[in-house]
Amino acid sequence: MRGSPRSAGGATRRTFLLGGAVAGVGAAAAVGLDAAVSASAQQQPSVPLNGEVTVPFHGEHQAGIDTDAQAHVALVALDLATDVDRAGLQRLMRTLTDDAARLTQGRSALADTEPELATAPARLTVTFGFGPGLVARAAAPAPSWLAPLPAFSIDRLRPEYGDGDLLLQVAADDAVTVAHATRMLLKDARAFATTRWVQHGFRRAHGTERPGTTMRNLFGQVDGTSNPVPGTPAFDDVVWVREGWLAGGTGMVVRRIAMDLDKWDRLDRPGRDQAVGRFQSTGAPLTGTDEFDEPDFGAKDAVGFPVIAEFSHLRRSRPDDTTQRIFRRGYNYDQTPPAGVVSDAGLLFVSFQADIERQFVPIQRRLDELDLLNEWTTPIGSAVFAVPPGCREGGYIGEGILS
Ligand code: HEM
Repeated sequence: MRGSPRSAGGATRRTFLLGGAVAGVGAAAAVGLDAAVSASAQQQPSVPLNGEVTVPFHGEHQAGIDTDAQAHVALVALDLATDVDRAGLQRLMRTLTDDAARLTQGRSALADTEPELATAPARLTVTFGFGPGLVARAAAPAPSWLAPLPAFSIDRLRPEYGDGDLLLQVAADDAVTVAHATRMLLKDARAFATTRWVQHGFRRAHGTERPGTTMRNLFGQVDGTSNPVPGTPAFDDVVWVREGWLAGGTGMVVRRIAMDLDKWDRLDRPGRDQAVGRFQSTGAPLTGTDEFDEPDFGAKDAVGFPVIAEFSHLRRSRPDDTTQRIFRRGYNYDQTPPAGVVSDAGLLFVSFQADIERQFVPIQRRLDELDLLNEWTTPIGSAVFAVPPGCREGGYIGEGILS
């Protein structure tokens, strides 16, 4: 199942129905459809439940990167216990890989105390990222970009949302599935590591919008229009590392960015459109009418000012140097606000790129220097991970440096 060619995240992994059976009476019974109550349902092919859909775990790349973004995510960062050595890391990653391989296919993990919760994978993916500490513990060569990002003047970073040795990105179209899978993984990791932070994010629920619709963030903006499309050579160039133990893997940036919705409320529609350089209504650039129209940065208004302002997020984030591209795959967050404030919400900004230093950092530098959106957004968390390649059946994630 690929997303539309214009979608922000078409899946290049095929998604499967649990058990492989999709048609016929047996399948209808297996997925528990209530076909019996509807005469018309007996004449039409059964509609599979999204809860039954699985994303393959094994492969050249880890799932959860080129997979169409699911509705729910838990990003969990762990700190390794001081006594975990290379052999310990190997045991940890073997166990977690086994858990992930089972759970993503709708099978319970070993010693699963709630196996009933494992039966609806709902496109569950588990993606592992290695922080600088883990790679050092494995005595493996670290890419130069595997380090905390340089400090940016807009940052107001809080330690409770930063860094970490091991990242778990657990994503599915069902929040119960995400909660259960996360818990199983953490139970198996607890002899080796402690939880440093957990960040939950969401997009629209499965089935709410047509597949391929670009997500909206909580400012109401269409967010993700200009993004490399999974399955294309451009995506492969932007995302996958080509050499060394990370070949087939990627670099991952996680930034928790607070969005001041209470302040955003005071900005009128033209101001909102100007801040990004795109219409909030359609996501089209201010020089176009369709979301995917190419922006015309040379266009001037009646008094000679650029239609898409120099300070707009679109102008500032779009690199002239096309090697500075990233793949964004973020989620919204919304949490209990402090007293006197209506909202405490924002973006779990997640981007994947082969080389964080060469691709992500120059963009973030430009946004740090000038970007009208900075009036309403504040980075409050930051972490960087090396995402190892996928593994074959019987292998485990990280074997390239742990075996
Ligand atoms: C809360 C913070 C942010 C918000 C609300 C936001 C919102 C948006 C919106 C609405 C667009 C236009 C539609 C699209 O192409 O997706 C956009 C584009 C983009 N943003 Fe952001 N963004 C944020 C943070 C960032 C950060 C931290 C980076 C990277 C350092 C970034 C990089 C980009 C890039 C590369 C584009 C595409 C530019 C192009 O057209 O080529 N954004 N963002």
